[in-house]
Amino acid sequence: MARVFSGIQPTGDKHLGNYLGAIRHWVATQDADDALYCVVDLHAMTLPYDPAELADRTRRTAALLLAAGLDPQRCTLFVQSHVPAHTELTWILNCVATFGELRRMTQFKEKSAGQESVSVGLFDYPVLMAADILAYDAERVPVGDDQRQHLELARDLAVRFNHRFGPTLVVPEPAIPPVAARIMDLATPTAKMSTSAESPQGTIGLLDPPELVTKRLRSAVTDSATDVRFDPDTKPGISNLLQILAATTDRPLPDVEAEYAGVGYGTLKQTVADAVVAFLAPLQRRYRELADDPAHLDAALGAGAEKAEAITTKVLARVRQAVGLLPRA
Ligand code: TRP
Repeated sequence: MARVFSGIQPTGDKHLGNYLGAIRHWVATQDADDALYCVVDLHAMTLPYDPAELADRTRRTAALLLAAGLDPQRCTLFVQSHVPAHTELTWILNCVATFGELRRMTQFKEKSAGQESVSVGLFDYPVLMAADILAYDAERVPVGDDQRQHLELARDLAVRFNHRFGPTLVVPEPAIPPVAARIMDLATPTAKMSTSAESPQGTIGLLDPPELVTKRLRSAVTDSATDVRFDPDTKPGISNLLQILAATTDRPLPDVEAEYAGVGYGTLKQTVADAVVAFLAPLQRRYRELADDPAHLDAALGAGAEKAEAITTKVLARVRQAVGLLPRA
């Protein structure tokens, strides 16, 4: 069993794109792998945020992951700030990472562009992410394409560390899911569905009520032709709807495409809306149960942190020794 690690930020409300692009793969691999999943609350502090909301968002994100099917008996789900090794290893890796390589990170350039003041935390975001991964000897890291450069940095830091201090850290491999899983914005189907979209029109939140889901799908932007066909280049809207239908009904895309080849756009939209509503119903029910019992949720996260810490204690002992720190008597 490969040790797998991935993280998700407790920001925004998670949408169908998050689920189909990442969360469902996490759920699907929790048995095959020794999987650790982390709500990365420390990463959420790198941009201006509201402290009154952070804890609640962290809980809600964890509840959503459980509602989506992560099972604490089969994987380790925990909150980043509950395990101090993440920040400790970040410092040690800060002394291995260079200013030049962090300055080149495209996400840093994008997020800092035009800002009046940029925190050191934002600059150091990729080192914290490297620490997340390396503190667990993770072999595989499932992430979206936008995190490829950060993962490359984590690999570089592990290799450099091992070169400088002797073999200590496991060098992780990326596990980028197939691009076919990309769910597009309903209003602008050439752009990825995203929490930071200009308008929420094109997004389906995992906790959106059925009426809203139906409304959004019925007003999805399509094209002026009438044929239902999978062709993302010339028919991005229709292709996205077919993709969503296939994913939420767990059927192969070609089957879905063949079945709906003759129908009108209106019928297709209503079919997709019904499928998405039916798909979200059990997730939303489980979410409400979890949200109603925060003590139970907190206990599950506490147990997850303990399992996580059992691993980092060993890795950090190795790291401390390698870099030459005096052992505490
Ligand atoms: N930066 C990742 C994202 O925005 C989240 C993340 C933090 C992560 N630490 C990680 C992903 C470690 C994988 C492994 O999606």
